[in-house]
Amino acid sequence: MKRIKVNASNKYEVVIGSGLLDTAGEEISKLIKPCKLCILTDDTVAGYYLEKLKCSLTASGYSVSEYIIPHGEESKNISTYAGFLNYLASNGFTRTDALAALGGGVVGDLCGFTAATYLRGVKYVQIPTTILAMVDSSVGGKTAVDLEAGKNLCGAFYQPTLVLCDCDTSKTLPSNIFADGMAEVIKYGVIRDSKLFEHLYENKLNFDFEYVIETCVDIKRDIVENDEFDNGIRQLLNFGHTVGHGIEKLSNFGISHGSAVAIGMMIITKAAAENNICSAECITKLNTILNAFSLPTSTEYTASQLAKTAESDKKRRAGNITLVIPKSIGQADLMTIPTTDYEKFIAAGV
Ligand code: NAD
Ligand code: GLY
Repeated sequence: MKRIKVNASNKYEVVIGSGLLDTAGEEISKLIKPCKLCILTDDTVAGYYLEKLKCSLTASGYSVSEYIIPHGEESKNISTYAGFLNYLASNGFTRTDALAALGGGVVGDLCGFTAATYLRGVKYVQIPTTILAMVDSSVGGKTAVDLEAGKNLCGAFYQPTLVLCDCDTSKTLPSNIFADGMAEVIKYGVIRDSKLFEHLYENKLNFDFEYVIETCVDIKRDIVENDEFDNGIRQLLNFGHTVGHGIEKLSNFGISHGSAVAIGMMIITKAAAENNICSAECITKLNTILNAFSLPTSTEYTASQLAKTAESDKKRRAGNITLVIPKSIGQADLMTIPTTDYEKFIAAGV
């Protein structure tokens, strides 16, 4: 078991290991006194893990209830959010009560945003069950719901009290959800850690799960500690994401986030190599590793189509767009260009 301390505006630990659902009650009770605790989860995750978590929390003295939403991004909206708030209010949850998010990034983002805003803030615990949620969304305090105009447009920075990553939960992940999360893991290798990248490159699907989760969380911790409110280096986490979001939008979300980010990372890396910022070897290595994890590396969409989608990207600021450019495997920089130059830049990689 590993414990990683995050020194953000609110300090907390990320605990990573096996069997943590069984000991969740003990862990949480060190930080939150027994109270009413509502678990937010989705209908798929509930079937696998809800009873185990409830048993552990009840044994530690919590008065436990659950709020179960349909699985999938469609649930991350204002109406589900309002339903959850009303549930908490009508069941008398007070400021000393708490929430727990059991599931992937959808449940984590929704629970975090509810915790940030219900009674102007209650404590919440993240219990991520997808790879994406373990390495990314559960750490760092970005919480949100989607609006009709776009994803994550309504949210808050609100750090959890604790994150419990039970690695055993990954065993029930369907292969496509597993692959989606691995796109984010590969991202960490490219932007920050050549050793992590090489470990994945050498071991492919036989990688050391706990080592990989711990390493990614540690990278995210470092980035969040240095730029909690996303004004600088936290943007490194967007590697492949601007192009990726374009692909998601153009496909009407038929192409998953992980697949779109994988293609986005390839396009940006090819463009960087064309501009002599990184070597051709980076392209070959990235291509090999994405293939090994069954992630796509190319798209039918044109640079012009992709550039149009970037016009409404929320990462665009004052006519400029900040791209994450790999210099080598394990090192990336931010590069801000006028939005009008974006099409030309990515055209070199499409
Ligand atoms: P998700 O929460 O929809 O989970 C994907 C699917 O996997 C769901 O159908 C879920 O029911 C199922 N599932 C979850 N855990 C399982 C398990 N252990 N076994 C079997 N099935 C399981 O999606 P996600 O990919 O985890 O997260 C995507 C969301 O995260 C998006 O809304 C995105 O905007 C958000 N996100 C947030 C941040 C952040 O910093 N807050 C970062 C990245 C992504
Ligand atoms: N996933 C992007 C971030 O946490 O900033």
